[in-house]
Amino acid sequence: MDNNLRCIIDAKNIVKIYETGYEELKVLDDINIKVMENDLTAILGPSGSGKSTLMNVLGCLDLPTSGQYFLDGVDVLKAKEDQLAEIRNKKIGFVFQKFNLLPRLSALQNVMLPLLYRGIDEAEAREIAKEKLNLLGLGDRLTHRPNELSGGQQQRVSIARAIVGNPPLLLADEPTGNLDSKSSMDAIEIFKELNKEGNTIIIITHDTEVAEQMKKVVFIRDGQFFENN
Ligand SMILES: Nc1ncnc2c1ncn2[C@@H]1O[C@H](COP(=O)(O)OP(=O)(O)O)[C@@H](O)[C@H]1O
Ligand SMILES: [Mg+2]
Repeated sequence: MDNNLRCIIDAKNIVKIYETGYEELKVLDDINIKVMENDLTAILGPSGSGKSTLMNVLGCLDLPTSGQYFLDGVDVLKAKEDQLAEIRNKKIGFVFQKFNLLPRLSALQNVMLPLLYRGIDEAEAREIAKEKLNLLGLGDRLTHRPNELSGGQQQRVSIARAIVGNPPLLLADEPTGNLDSKSSMDAIEIFKELNKEGNTIIIITHDTEVAEQMKKVVFIRDGQFFENN
């Protein structure tokens, strides 16, 4: 056992309540999660169980109603909006079900973007982005726009974009949800390979077959975690 592993996520008593005008909806109900460096964790639950809400909280895209959240040592709930933007850019790589690529930009430009936001100069960003796209087998698709790529290829572009800045955490929300079974398998193999290289990954899914391939599975139902079904 390696005792020098960093704690990447330490979230305690996370509650998220949506006010919908006439009622309060408790979508996350006392979630506790710890993720260590080099974990490969699936969060598995049915539609409506609170997975995306949890991803938004863990990804610092949304704040919980209450709780504590430390991400790679940073107290997220004490951070100001500009600090949160920096945390999102430097500490997290996001992969979404619908890829969320910018349609007018080429594959290469999409992958360069997180680096440009960081202030890395264009020539260097281009080289790093190319390298990541090559790694994901898209070296011959650099100038293609998203609509000129298959779903599986678009998801690989989005994975390249997620890892391009070497963030300590990869967060993927239903990354195989829009893929055919072959492309899903490919995407899962990519995540497993990235994890072997040291990446810390959380995959949120409703698909048992996807979850089973991760090193650890936690179950979510009605906004609460279960160790087992
Ligand atoms: N912005 C919101 N306002 C009110 N209710 C929401 C909002 N976002 C999600 N919900 C509700 O929270 C519950 C969990 O949603 P979500 O986190 O998207 O679940 P999942 O990703 O597991 O399908 C659902 O009942 C959904 O309708
Ligand atoms: Mg969802």
